[in-house]
Amino acid sequence: EGENPSYLSDPWLGLHGWYLGTSTCNEWQRIQSFQARPDDLLICTYPKAGTTWIQEIVDMIQQDGDLEKCKRAPVHHRHPFIEWARPPQPSGVEQAEAMPSPRTLKTHLPVKLLPPSFWEQKCKFLYVARNAKDCMVSYYHFQRMSKVVPDPGPWHEYFEMFMAGKVGWGPWHDHVKGWWKVKDMHCVLFLFYEDMKKDPKCEIQKVAQFLGKNLDQELLEKIVYHTSFDVMKDNPMANRSGIPVSIMDQSISPFMRKGTVGDWKNHFTVAQNERFEDDYEKKMAGTNLTFCMEL
Ligand code: A3P
Repeated sequence: EGENPSYLSDPWLGLHGWYLGTSTCNEWQRIQSFQARPDDLLICTYPKAGTTWIQEIVDMIQQDGDLEKCKRAPVHHRHPFIEWARPPQPSGVEQAEAMPSPRTLKTHLPVKLLPPSFWEQKCKFLYVARNAKDCMVSYYHFQRMSKVVPDPGPWHEYFEMFMAGKVGWGPWHDHVKGWWKVKDMHCVLFLFYEDMKKDPKCEIQKVAQFLGKNLDQELLEKIVYHTSFDVMKDNPMANRSGIPVSIMDQSISPFMRKGTVGDWKNHFTVAQNERFEDDYEKKMAGTNLTFCMEL
């Protein structure tokens, strides 16, 4: 026990009504005073909504499809994760500060907790949302294999914790509603994981346009292929295979697990689904945000 680094099984901690990793809470002042730059692009997601996927898409667009350039580092190192703080590794803030502009950064923070400088600098935000049920299932399996987050316990307990928002980065509902609400007031491209599965070409073209690029058919098809689940699953720069087993045990559950829409049906009992839907209806009342739960 004593020899484990402090970031292993980092418990979630309440902060301003949301849950975050303890080590993130410990760095909170530095994270809040983060200085954004006007040409920053911030990739924003609730955990397990397809962050790695959109990161690879963005990078391939920015590198004009140059695969060698995209292999310069594992995807989780290409874009600093601003609220990441796991001493003695350099924090996300430090990594971002050391990065030349234009920067592409990553966050899971909800609107309310985002460092204010991002709004002041009028940055571009790329938000990817994924339906709550699939996020829950994916998060559960991630917590089983990742040793830096709490053990999820049995599924039926995890189900209750997720519904109550007692997981890292807080309640899914407030996260998506918050970003949906600001999308017309700021420069936000709001995408859905399910649309990306259904029509990757169309969604990738939207991202390119948002980044001010126009992709010809050939390049577009190349990006669609290299960012497909099967190809990313075998790409060591995307599949986290370089992370030691002591941090992520992919024999328990691979990071690139299934990459589908509707896997919740293999996990939710009928009773859980009813409970979830009742609660969902209440929490999502008053928003016109709708999700596709199966393809
Ligand atoms: P599953 O656990 O449902 O398979 P994040 O990157 O935000 O942590 O999200 C991880 C989820 O996105 C995992 O979901 C993972 O399999 C899925 N994913 C990663 N790359 C993908 C891709 N190219 N296409 C579809 N899903 C992908």
